[in-house]
Amino acid sequence: MTRLGILISGRGSNLLAIADAIADGTLPDAEIAVVLSNKAEAAGVARARERGFPTHVIESKGRIRAEHDADMVARLREYKVDLVCLAGYMRVVTPIFVDAFPQRLLNMHPSLLPAFPGLHPQQQALDYGVRVAGTTVHFVDEELDHGVIIVQRSVPVLDGDDAQTLAARILEEEHTAYSEAIARVLSGKYEIRGRCYVPRDSATK
Ligand code: GRF
Repeated sequence: MTRLGILISGRGSNLLAIADAIADGTLPDAEIAVVLSNKAEAAGVARARERGFPTHVIESKGRIRAEHDADMVARLREYKVDLVCLAGYMRVVTPIFVDAFPQRLLNMHPSLLPAFPGLHPQQQALDYGVRVAGTTVHFVDEELDHGVIIVQRSVPVLDGDDAQTLAARILEEEHTAYSEAIARVLSGKYEIRGRCYVPRDSATK
């Protein structure tokens, strides 16, 4: 059984979607070992506790990034976490985190990376005028919203969209994309080749 650590900063709908996928068997052989939030006021904290997941707040406000990350990593180790999923975790992580969980640290970003990394990606997409937007689940590396891509899903940008309507359309895809990405990583059937995450037995070019 793979022990997941889910990190949140907000409402936690992706956390609940992962929990549902485990409960209904879509994501087998995994369990949520702990939920960590860097914000006490995050709505997802109460939702995680309602579901009975061990949940801790490690406040990041005013703290040195590396020290906060070290505390987070210590907590994850305490719960013997195998795979860490950033799910609406609104904090850039330091190499401390990346080194602690090599190829075991995932993030979801609501754009089709490498387009529109960073803050407000849905608004960035609208301002740019793209007609297709989406979401990306990727491994975390030292650069923001940059690591090897595991799963992407696209959605159309519709006339009259604003950041909220586009975000809602993307979020619907995110709720299944994250568990698909986790299942892919846990399957052991994929490997990283260059920037690509490919089936292990696929031929090299
Ligand atoms: C998602 O759109 C995710 O891609 C982004 O923040 C949002 C989190 O939503 N990083 P929730 O907290 O899981 O509801």
